[in-house]
Amino acid sequence: MPVTVVIGSQWGDEGKGKIVDLISQDADIVARYQGGANAGHTICWDDKEFVLHLVPSGIFQEGVDCVIGNGVVIDPVAVLKEIEMIRELGYEVEGRLHISHNAHLIMPYHKKVEEARENWRDAGAIGTTGRGIGPAYVDKFARTGIRVVDLLDRDVLRKKLIISMEEKNAILQNVYGAEKLDVEAIIEEYVEFDKLIDPYVTDTTEYLCRSLKEGKHVLAEGAQGSLLDVDFGTYPFVTSSHPTVGGCCTGLGIPPTSITRIIGIVKAYSTRVGNGPFPTELEDEYGEELRKTGNEFGATTGRPRRCGWLDLVALKYTTMINGFTELAITKLDVLSNLDKIEVCTGYVVDGNTTQRFPSDIRTLERVRPVYETLPGWNEDITGITRLEDLPSTARDYLTFISDFLDVPQRLISSGPKREQTILV
Ligand code: IMP
Repeated sequence: MPVTVVIGSQWGDEGKGKIVDLISQDADIVARYQGGANAGHTICWDDKEFVLHLVPSGIFQEGVDCVIGNGVVIDPVAVLKEIEMIRELGYEVEGRLHISHNAHLIMPYHKKVEEARENWRDAGAIGTTGRGIGPAYVDKFARTGIRVVDLLDRDVLRKKLIISMEEKNAILQNVYGAEKLDVEAIIEEYVEFDKLIDPYVTDTTEYLCRSLKEGKHVLAEGAQGSLLDVDFGTYPFVTSSHPTVGGCCTGLGIPPTSITRIIGIVKAYSTRVGNGPFPTELEDEYGEELRKTGNEFGATTGRPRRCGWLDLVALKYTTMINGFTELAITKLDVLSNLDKIEVCTGYVVDGNTTQRFPSDIRTLERVRPVYETLPGWNEDITGITRLEDLPSTARDYLTFISDFLDVPQRLISSGPKREQTILV
């Protein structure tokens, strides 16, 4: 029962879309297990670029089925728009995309509450993507959420929505001083989704477990990154789900024993969007160069990403939590024209050097990174497809990473396109 899990090892935006797109050639099913339309997975081929937010990137591979699991929070507007885009590109979606009946829905009030809360927090804002993710998960755990299955019964939907919206309107008006929402308009809008989404809705857990029994290969796709995990990330500057490996089981309903490969996606440098500590952040010309060359602007929000050197302390920590069995190193080409590359191999905290990633944010905010300086390669490596064709300094950089993390690397990405890849 082989399940391969693809997990972001940093703060998201590691380039998972391309890797999932590539690996899904050998998969029968690609399944998304957490997050929502806050994610943006970019895929490039034939000089075209596509961004998917909810539908797994495997949808572009012939013969591959896709699942949006129970752990995902679904914005019906976003998912229907995406289905339309995929169809227009000439790909069949019906019969191939399976949406969990147990997944929770993002409602318009989730976005409103999030916006009001972020404004209210002011300087302490998380810097969220504004897609209603946090409030939707809050409702899930408060047991007041609306699930996909609720769309199928108008009376249940109406009853649940009225209760939920009375509460949300009271909060919006009385706590945040925001405008209240029109209950009837939202009921009408969501009742309409029922017809459109119905062909895709199913018991995805039953479907996945049956497929695994039949020996099918499932590729589980995480969104965001391990350092944004609500339990293991840089709380409170995190997302509200579990991008780490455990989220795969709870977000799809598959047994942990079915997982045979856990691929850690490591971008060759670090980036972060939104607020929160970032020990190796560069606010100088190197940071600017990485942003420019790496086109480090959010695929979902367009926000410029904060950039910095690779942080092996953080990566050692996420390797420990996820138990990566192999690494895929992405965007190595972005480091092409640098005279030197720094790698963080330790933190100094209160005068002591440690390789432990602090679990409390106040400590993380004041650590000083210890850097090892490695030579750059000052030549363009974009599109190289064989390890032996890389300059020796680039190969040394890769070896340094896998030796430090004690995990072998199987794939190196040397550009955004499918073919710009080195298989090790
Ligand atoms: P939320 O997921 O919209 O609640 O945002 C919480 C934090 O996670 C913010 O710092 C976001 O910038 C960050 N975040 C959410 N989704 C992504 C992603 O796909 N890539 C990178 N950062 C993300």
